[in-house]
Amino acid sequence: MSNAYDVLRGHHDVLRGLGSRFKAAPVGSAGRQEILDELLHEFTIHMRIEDDIYYPALAEASRLIAIAHAEHRQIYDQLAVALRTPAGSPHHVDEWNCFITVLEAHADEEERDLVPPPAPVDLTDAELENLGQRMLAEMARQRNSKWERLHVKARTALLKAF
Ligand SMILES: [Fe+2]
Ligand SMILES: [Fe+2]
Repeated sequence: MSNAYDVLRGHHDVLRGLGSRFKAAPVGSAGRQEILDELLHEFTIHMRIEDDIYYPALAEASRLIAIAHAEHRQIYDQLAVALRTPAGSPHHVDEWNCFITVLEAHADEEERDLVPPPAPVDLTDAELENLGQRMLAEMARQRNSKWERLHVKARTALLKAF
């Protein structure tokens, strides 16, 4: 099952699952932090496979791609807001819930508008298989890379600091 659409829908479900578990975990618990670390890692992988592999293959749907890129930026902006809201703040949980909400809303819209994309984009079965394979390979590479994990941590620290 490495059709690009299946890969993306499947990974959206991974993100949705982590989002639900994160929201259900007791605020301030070690478990909640572990789920968040996993969520941010998978989320970073997801943005990369879309920005670098899937969206470029849909170049003809340029208006929708521009919207999708803008939504990715909004998600990162909300992540930065949540990271900068101290654990003691009354807004802490709300800002994290908002991050999960914009992430889920984007995944929903993407499945509606871009998976599959509208005409004139016309991907053949072979192209979809090839795209799916490339995305799976990149996901595996990033999941197994210590460097990529450090990169996510560093990026998180950076977003927190500014
Ligand atoms: Fe996306
Ligand atoms: Fe997505």
